[in-house]
Amino acid sequence: MLKFNVIVAVSKNFGIGFKGGLPWKLKSELRYFSETTKRVLDSTKRNVVIMGRKTYFGIPLSNRPLRNRLNIVLSTTLNKASELPEEVLLQPNLEATMKFLEDNNTLKSSIENIWIIGGASVFKEAMASKRCHRLYITEIQSSFESDVFLPKIPNDFQQIIPGPEVPQRLQVENCVCFNYKVLEKRQ
Ligand SMILES: NC(=O)c1ccc[n+]([C@@H]2O[C@H](COP(=O)([O-])OP(=O)(O)OC[C@H]3O[C@@H](n4cnc5c(N)ncnc54)[C@H](OP(=O)(O)O)[C@@H]3O)[C@@H](O)[C@H]2O)c1
Repeated sequence: MLKFNVIVAVSKNFGIGFKGGLPWKLKSELRYFSETTKRVLDSTKRNVVIMGRKTYFGIPLSNRPLRNRLNIVLSTTLNKASELPEEVLLQPNLEATMKFLEDNNTLKSSIENIWIIGGASVFKEAMASKRCHRLYITEIQSSFESDVFLPKIPNDFQQIIPGPEVPQRLQVENCVCFNYKVLEKRQ
């Protein structure tokens, strides 16, 4: 069974989004997101990023599609030909996306990791799925005005000690403290 990881940054008040974008401005956190979702051991492969329609269009125009990753957008209303660039895939839901990747051997063999990058309902479906391996969480230790929130993390996740690619020191930027942690779903 093909599995995926979730990556999310969340504030003390569980906010993840505000007015279509992120509630905060943290360059080093964006760099961590970019490096983590791009990282491959096999340089002939690349990773997949799966996101909801609003998350895709919330990414600044100059940065989307996210570079060096296969971008897949979940939507039941978008028209692929007129609203998304050719290299971006459109899928109706998360499970259909996973089955599509599983059934396409050429595509599957070109992929190393699959990352679920938001928003709220995609995170909810992803965290509840048996396909979910790990949650990569950035805990932002301040509250921010938000209009999109992280759904409750199910109880079957436990914190693990990650590899050296996940900094364990407290991060500080613009007087905001944050830390990276990794949870793994119990089998
Ligand atoms: N802090 C973080 O780590 C983080 C990560 C991601 C996003 N965000 C923020 O969160 C906000 C966007 O999140 P959001 O929750 O409002 O929207 P979203 O999940 O990105 O997009 C919602 C839309 O995506 C489609 N969709 C979502 N789940 C689906 C599913 N399971 N199956 C089929 N289609 C699905 C639907 O599109 P249709 O209506 O077209 O069917 C739905 O209306 C933005 O502010 C963004 O910046 C933050």
